[in-house]
Amino acid sequence: MGNPLFATKPLDKLLQEALESGEHSLKRALGPINLIALGIGAIIGAGIFVLTGSAAALYAGPSIMLSYILAGVGCGFAGLCYAEFASLIPIAGSAYTYGYATLGEIVAWVIGWDLILEYAFGAATVASGWSSTLVAFLQDYNINLPPQICDVPGAEWVFFEGRWAPLSTLKLTAAQLAAIPHVTTKFNLIAFLAMIGVTTLLIIGIKESANFNTGVVFVKLIAVFTFIFVAAAFVFKHPAVARENWTVFIPPNTGEFGSYGWSGILRGAGVVFFAYIGFDAVSTAAQEARKPQKDMPVGILGSLAICTVLYIIVCALLTATVHYSRLNIGAPVSLAIRETGVKWGSYVVNAGALAGLSTVMLVMLLGQSRVFYSMAKDGLLWKWAGDIHPRFRTPWKSTGIVGLLVAFVGATVPIGDLGQLVSIGTLLAFVIVCAGVWIMRVRRPELERPFKTPWVPFVPIMGMIISIGLMAGLKAVTWIRLVVWLIVGLVVYFTYSVKHSKVRNPQG
Ligand code: ALA
Repeated sequence: MGNPLFATKPLDKLLQEALESGEHSLKRALGPINLIALGIGAIIGAGIFVLTGSAAALYAGPSIMLSYILAGVGCGFAGLCYAEFASLIPIAGSAYTYGYATLGEIVAWVIGWDLILEYAFGAATVASGWSSTLVAFLQDYNINLPPQICDVPGAEWVFFEGRWAPLSTLKLTAAQLAAIPHVTTKFNLIAFLAMIGVTTLLIIGIKESANFNTGVVFVKLIAVFTFIFVAAAFVFKHPAVARENWTVFIPPNTGEFGSYGWSGILRGAGVVFFAYIGFDAVSTAAQEARKPQKDMPVGILGSLAICTVLYIIVCALLTATVHYSRLNIGAPVSLAIRETGVKWGSYVVNAGALAGLSTVMLVMLLGQSRVFYSMAKDGLLWKWAGDIHPRFRTPWKSTGIVGLLVAFVGATVPIGDLGQLVSIGTLLAFVIVCAGVWIMRVRRPELERPFKTPWVPFVPIMGMIISIGLMAGLKAVTWIRLVVWLIVGLVVYFTYSVKHSKVRNPQG
């Protein structure tokens, strides 16, 4: 017998699990439109509405478009690999399960643990972004929420020019500071409640969650299209402004790696990669899809393709409307639409951003609870995490507990570098999924694959190279956090999972 650490889960067993039905199984309620909407729900969010501005201002200028193309191509390669796996092994565990089937238990564990960084920390990051978007949105209507409940414990907020805002976002002199009210925030209750709302919906039912998601995705697409039409009309009417803003398409490098020039485009790609995260979450709904073999690839690749095209158009118009040097702000897209003189447009965009962030939280938490569900069913996590509510047919315990924990993290931990941790965790999952597709083709060439990744091994290799390249561009501290996180995971694995693993202890 081989090393049990690398025991793989037999494919026949996985395929049998995929066919389970009845009150203790997940409910097959989703069709192709729901699945594409889930993907768009998870993808369009803080990345395009917030990060694009600072990435253009600090790293790439108008060539942030090229950063988006680069990150989009990398995700395309990984997306093709996800599509093959999701149609071949339509199980809720996604990358974790693919790892279990191909590379062995310990790799599966590492990837399952790593997905917490993507899904749970991703949801927490976005919950915090949701709260700042709501605060800014209400302020447009002159409504100021009590700042004490709008940020993590210990942040300084000041009342300046009629608005409460985090001190860190303002440039004030000591004299100005002394003359205005300030408070220390206590707990981000807004982020907390948003996450609890999403958790409740996910517990109530997959159909209810998917319908809510589809409706809200519609709102955010309206916001994106509004921006595109209004900004395009502006550019046609004022070609001189656009020409002026685009005179320097790739600003010359300042001498520092990542600060404009080609290296800036690369660094920009690493940052805006965050905007694409989420298409892979569609694969965690595989056991809730009516026809996973056919519809999983449609959901994953369809949502990715739609968002890539929209992102490139939005970036082009954003940098044509406003000079990139002015974009390092919290709501760049809404600034650009205000610049066009169409005031109502900024309300639509802000409402779209708020809607957008809600569905990102929803689908991320959905993904997290489904991965835990699969791990619990395999005996690698506590059994309760795999319990399905007999009426709602959702993994209610894992959804509830993870939702509560994520709500606390979102309400108390400053987002700062959390976003980069989410990106590195996701990229690691991409590398393993790409490797897995290639390995499976070599080991089990005879399997019938409802969707085949084209040009294997070229596509998986490119997926791995680009993902590792983007990981390399992230800060050293992010790498250290990743390693520490994985070590903690291995401690759990060796103290609990090895003893309870069903693959290792089939009689147990
Ligand atoms: N892609 C998601 C966002 O941009 C995570 O918010």
